[in-house]
Formats: sequence, C-alpha cells, structure tokens
Amino acid sequence: FPFPPQPTFPALQANIGFALLALVGALYLVPKVSPAFIDKGLKGRDLLKPGGRTSGPWVPECLGLPCATLYLLLMMLFIPFPFSHIFQVAGNNGVGREKFPLRELTFYLTSLLSLLTATLLGFIDDLFDIRWRHKLPIPLIAAVPTLLVYYATGGWTWVVLPESVGKLLRSLGLPGWTGAPVVNLRFLYYVYLALLPTFTTNSINILAGINGVETIQPLIIAMSITLNDLLYLPIWPEWFLEFLGIENAAGGRILTWAVGQVVTRHLMSLYFMIPLIGVCAGFLWHNWYTARAFPGDTLCYFTGMAFSAVAIQGHFAKTMLLFFLPQIFNFLLSCPQLFRLVPCPRHRLPHFNEATGLLEPSKAVFERAPPLPGRIFLEVFQALGLTRLERAPPPADSKSEEVASSKSWPQEGDIVSATNLTLLNYLLVRLGPMHEPTLCLLVGAVQVAGSAVAFAIRYGVGSLVYGG
Ligand code: UD1
Ligand code: MG
Repeated sequence: FPFPPQPTFPALQANIGFALLALVGALYLVPKVSPAFIDKGLKGRDLLKPGGRTSGPWVPECLGLPCATLYLLLMMLFIPFPFSHIFQVAGNNGVGREKFPLRELTFYLTSLLSLLTATLLGFIDDLFDIRWRHKLPIPLIAAVPTLLVYYATGGWTWVVLPESVGKLLRSLGLPGWTGAPVVNLRFLYYVYLALLPTFTTNSINILAGINGVETIQPLIIAMSITLNDLLYLPIWPEWFLEFLGIENAAGGRILTWAVGQVVTRHLMSLYFMIPLIGVCAGFLWHNWYTARAFPGDTLCYFTGMAFSAVAIQGHFAKTMLLFFLPQIFNFLLSCPQLFRLVPCPRHRLPHFNEATGLLEPSKAVFERAPPLPGRIFLEVFQALGLTRLERAPPPADSKSEEVASSKSWPQEGDIVSATNLTLLNYLLVRLGPMHEPTLCLLVGAVQVAGSAVAFAIRYGVGSLVYGG
C-alpha cells in the first residue's frame, strides 16, 4: 500500500553524529582525566569491594563533570543545525530574518542554562557534600527561566480527567462540568513543573551506591523519552500506529501535518536526548562493575535536569514522570528515612559480605526508639514485605527483666534495626543475596519494565487521562 512521502530530518541526522561524538568522547576522556581527579582528591572508596570503607580500592569520583562539559560543548556546537534551513532562506542580507524561530532558540538556550546550573550544583555537592536544605531549593530556582518560557509560549495547564471522574462531578451537580472532563490547574500546574527538576535530579541520586546504577538509570530513561519522541515524528505509516493502538498519540492529525508544533517540540527533545544516550553509554563503560570511575552527584543532577528541561519545553511533563516509576517507588520508600522518622545512615547502599562476595540488605541500627510515626511506617512496610525488621529478644534473666520494666530501651519486641528503605535493599530482601553487577542489571530490568508500563499507561488505558 502507498506510503505518504516521507519528510527528512537533516538536523536529526547531524544530531546522531553528535551523539556518536559524545559516546566516543566519553569513552576516551574519562580514563584520560581520571588521574587528575585523583590528584585533586576527587576520589571515593569503592565500598562494596573487599576492604570496603577502610581499605577498599580508590576510584576517581565526579567524572560526571567531564561528561557534562563534553555534552554541553557539543550541544552548543549543535545550535546552528536545527536552524540551518533558515540561514539558507535568509542568506547574508537578513531577508526573512523575522521568520527566525526565536521561540525554539529560546527553548534551546534556557535548557542549556538549566543544565549548566544543575552541573554547577552537582559539582558543588561533590566538593562540599552540601546539606539537603541547601540542595533542594537550587533546582527550584534553576527552573524559573524554563517556566517563564513555558508561560510566554502559552503554557498548557489543563489536565484531562478520566470520563468516570467527569461523570461523578456531573452527578454531584457541580457547575461547569457539562462539557469535556478537563480541569485547568493554572497556578498548581506551575508548582508541579517547578518541583519536577528537584525530583528528577535528586531521585536519581538517591537510587545509588552500586557500580553502574547511577548511569544505567539515565541511559534507559533517555532511551525511553527518545522512543516516545520518535512516535510523534511523521515517519510512521498509519497502519503501524493503528497496530500499536497509539493513534491518539500521533496518528492522523500529525501524519498530515508535517511541520506542526508537536513535531517541533519532540524534535527539540530528541536533539537533547540522543547525545545524552551517547554520553551515558560511553560513561557506563567505565562505571560498570568493577568501576574505574564514579559519576558523582554531577552526573545525577545534570542528567536529571536534562529530563525536566525537555519535558517542560516539550509539553510532556506528565508522561515524563511515568518514566521515573522506579525512582518514584524508591523515593516513596525512602521518605521515612529522608524525613528522619527513621534513622538514616550516611550511606544506605547494600552490605558487602566478604565471605560470600555477595550483596545483602544493609541495616539502619537504632540507638533509641524511632518516633511513633516512624515505627508505624516500619510495621506497615514490613507487612508489605518492603523491609525486614529486627526486634529485641526477651531479657536473659528475671533480674534484668526488672530493670527492663523501667523506661530503658529496647524492651522485648521493640524494633532495633530495619533494612535501609531503598529499592536496592528491597530487591535484596525479596530475592536474596546476589552479585553487584547482577543487582545493577536487575535495576536496569526494573527500569525497562517501568518504561513498558509507562507506555502502556500513556497510550493504552491512560490515553484519556493524559494530555501530554
Ligand atoms: C546517596 C545516598 C546514599 C548512598 C550514596 C551512594 C540517600 C539519601 N543517599 O548519597 O545512601 O550510600 O548515594 O552513592 O539515599 N559508592 C560506591 N560504589 C558506587 C557508587 C558510589 O561505593 O558504585 C560510594 C563511594 O564511596 C563514593 C560515594 O558512594 O565516594 C558517593 O556517594 P555520594 O554520591 O556522595 O552520596 P550521596 O549522593 O550523598
Ligand atoms: Mg550521589
């Protein structure tokens, strides 16, 4: 059957070239600059190797910095490419310059600005280990330029509700619910967009501690966003979209509308995501077990910010959050420790058993009783199989029982330790001890499964719920 004439995307082809440069550049650069990082004291012990905290091998840390620098420089060099056709029209004398897509250029430049801020924040965190209360507001402020551009370009703040919610609201006789079940979140949507960079940057950073895991997460998320963006390019025959059941997403309306706004926005997102895949893949080579380089907070913050920037500019901030399902799970599970309802050690990464060479869940050991809300969370999490608790045994003899009957802690049955509340420890609690690279692959598999669920929600059951 006849295919519609296929548009070509020369800037996208150039972008793939830049991604290859990012890949080769990261492969080459990381070992080249590693000794200089060690010289400057930017190194950390690989905690999950024999010797651990005291004599584990030194590994250069913060190698996200050369990766982010390489990526940013390549993205700066790439700027003319998406606009090259305009130069042809404009020529040297400026004819047609008023047609220059300044809006797209502004998107591009504010994204670069956010990425620079995130890289700076990550680097400062790597150097000084700054406190949470200082860390949290910075991505929030870094989001302001992006949000202003979003607003200035007629930012969409509507959310489409499922039909059932609309019916319920109508049955309650609420005024204004006679039409389509959509709601304008207005200011609240901007609050959500402002918090997004804080979440994406930090959530990758707290799912960390084993070789490769901080790099495999952004790699798979970037691949998922790329796949999602590609669905919006007018390159698919209609039968393919119908076969996937995604006509809601990209079908007819875009196939006949080659250079529409939606296509442009997703192209912009692709320009950022494809080189990010290149740089992450190159760095993963060095970060994979046994790691010869650690990413540091720089890589977590910089990649996290890249996702927020493209999602806000590309108007798919809700879809993007679906690609963070493992990070959302890890964050929710971590909340009692992050908010100090349950003691939180400096490192929550798994425990390395030197005798077996396998990773086991690590524990937070309590010196006093956690506050009541913390104990309730722990009991609920244990009931759900999310953590394993240890309780105080009965007193050895009756004398000490008398002593214990006073206010001393712990009394029989009190919680004295819990496995740290992270996805990594949860997997080890459920599936038993395993090798470090196996656990990393498992997290990668969870991330891929999360993306599959994300696509199913977005284009299956949720095509009504999701407007972007
Ligand atoms: C986050 C986690 C912390 C976890 C740490 C591991 C929270 C609130 N914080 O802290 O629990 O222990 O990441 O990165 O969840 N390291 C390894 N192997 C690796 C990667 C890192 O041993 O594959 C160790 C190294 O000693 C390295 C250090 O972790 O120096 C880096 O920790 P850092 O990124 O500074 O920790 P945070 O991000 O603050
Ligand atoms: Mg970190």
